[in-house]
Amino acid sequence: MSATPQHTTHRESDDRMVARELDQLARHYGSRFLHEPAPDNELPKYGMLATDAMRLIGEELVLDGIPMRNLATFVTTWMEPEAQRVIAENLHRNYIDHAEYPQTAEIEQRCIRMLASLFNAPGETTGTRTQGSSEAIMLGALSLKWKWRERRDAAGKDNSKPNLVFGGDVHVVWDKFCRYFDVEPRIIPLQPGKYTIGPDDVEPHIDENTIGVGAVLGTTFTGHADDIVGINEMLMQVRERHGWDVPLHIDAASGGFVWPFLYPHSEWDFRLEQVRSINVSGHKFGLVYPGIGWLIFREKSDLPEDLVFYENYLGKRDATFTLNFSTGAAMVLAQYYNFVRLGHEGYRYLMETMQANTRTLADRIAKCGEFRIIGSESDEQLPLVAFQLEGERNFDEFDIASQVAAERGWMVPAYTLPPNADDVKIMRVLVKLTLGHTLATALADDLDEACRVLAEKGGLHPHDRKRAKTNPAI
Ligand SMILES: Cc1ncc(COP(=O)(O)O)c(C=O)c1O
Repeated sequence: MSATPQHTTHRESDDRMVARELDQLARHYGSRFLHEPAPDNELPKYGMLATDAMRLIGEELVLDGIPMRNLATFVTTWMEPEAQRVIAENLHRNYIDHAEYPQTAEIEQRCIRMLASLFNAPGETTGTRTQGSSEAIMLGALSLKWKWRERRDAAGKDNSKPNLVFGGDVHVVWDKFCRYFDVEPRIIPLQPGKYTIGPDDVEPHIDENTIGVGAVLGTTFTGHADDIVGINEMLMQVRERHGWDVPLHIDAASGGFVWPFLYPHSEWDFRLEQVRSINVSGHKFGLVYPGIGWLIFREKSDLPEDLVFYENYLGKRDATFTLNFSTGAAMVLAQYYNFVRLGHEGYRYLMETMQANTRTLADRIAKCGEFRIIGSESDEQLPLVAFQLEGERNFDEFDIASQVAAERGWMVPAYTLPPNADDVKIMRVLVKLTLGHTLATALADDLDEACRVLAEKGGLHPHDRKRAKTNPAI
């Protein structure tokens, strides 16, 4: 602490003494953060005690939503204490450092092999761990682009105008890929009442410059799947008719861990001939905390050799196919933990539990008499309930989302669908392991009550409507 300068007023020097005294006391009581603003714009000149830093962050995060009441997210918000321990004990392990952590690299490969087998790959194949499905889709679509270019070069044809075909029901990352990597997006618009795509929608958009088709297993918006079997058949016919071998990439970000257990006989994966690559988020229904996704190829040859980087790292030749370099290995280990802890039967049991709770919730929401459920019990769908208000009201879905947020802190998103179904308003509840029977019942009652309150008082002030969560794509 510097000496008080000569020109300092009595008032200032008193303040400094008080501050010094408080500092002294804080050393004993560990609470300096309580009487200082949180450092924000600049690195603070002096640090603080470890406990103070920890409490400062903890105190501020209280203002965030409570993850367990976040019914908007597909991402895991609860793992077993043993899994948490595996994660905590391995936070310092760098995933990319294969030379130093060869067992971690082996465990990653085991996960890839298990997923390839779950997705019915015909033989030995390859894949990679990613940060999530977004990175996996970027890498998968890059592979499509590279393979298409190889085919065009081999045929001596122009390779300057690649396009990628997908529906308006995809996640924003598909547009992002096209913009970042200079590919023309050919987006099939949705229609009111039709929120997925099929072969007849896709076919008119395909030509010799199509690097691939993206189809979704479990859309972000309603949890349904595109007609993957139909699209696959159509692509086989296109191959026969025109000689264009257009590959299919399946965005199974959420569905990749749901369909194999709830709908094992439904074909969407490598059982279909044109499916060349699949992405899945470990941190969604793979039931791991955020930071893990997977990209799996049908065959080794579907990964263009040119995209693999070989380098001499710490004396060992290493091959990588990632957009990132250093990153944590803990979530890879957590994924493997879930695989060995749950096995096939464990995942099936948990998926069926979520599905049963989804049905309970859907039934109760339907019984309120206020809502229409999107889809039916016989549909193949993610464990979620998508619903909308039935008939004309003096309030809408955004008002309800705000009302349940205000009353009980529920984060239930309300959103409009992508074009040309953008007049359609929807609410959606993810039924994950943190929404058991009791909470599902409480939520249905709260939705019912919100409708009653809103019918009496009318729609909310625009300011209050801002409480509604409006981003479905997380
Ligand atoms: C269908 C679909 N694809 C891709 C993504 C992006 O996944 P991630 O958040 O793992 O990057 C999501 C996220 O919700 C999704 O639902």
